[in-house]
Amino acid sequence: MTPIRLVWSGLAAAVWLATLAPASAAPRKIDFNRDIRPILSDNCYACHGPDEKARKAKLRLDVAEGALAKHGSSAAIVPRDLKKSELWARVTSKETNDVMPPPSTAPLAARKLRIL
Ligand code: HEC
Repeated sequence: MTPIRLVWSGLAAAVWLATLAPASAAPRKIDFNRDIRPILSDNCYACHGPDEKARKAKLRLDVAEGALAKHGSSAAIVPRDLKKSELWARVTSKETNDVMPPPSTAPLAARKLRIL
């Protein structure tokens, strides 16, 4: 390859990257089924899923009614209110007694936390 061709292919690559960048950098709208459910499914449904016998704390996170239901004074998810959402308090908790998923299981990756 002659040097001028190298420059051209470098330019072409830069243009190509530039056209890709905005799409991936723009904040995507979070979609419950696409973005949230897989995280809960992988990390929470073993104990808060469809299997009634395995379910802990009578909390179901696989259906909206369960996730939004009142549990005493709190609810797992209070739409658009992180501070009132027990789920958020639990996944970000530093207390081994409170944190979800429990320390015996794999912790949530930071990326998943940001999405939640
Ligand atoms: C290994 C089983 C297990 C897994 C996995 C698990 N939990 Fe739990 N969860 C429990 C148990 C047991 C309790 C009840 C004891 C307690 O409150 O700490 C509980 C309680 C909770 C509560 C409080 C419910 C209430 O009424 O106060 C929330 C919210 C919660 N879990 C969210 C989650 C989330 C979100 C995940 C996934 C990121 C998760 N849990 C994964 C076992 C689990």
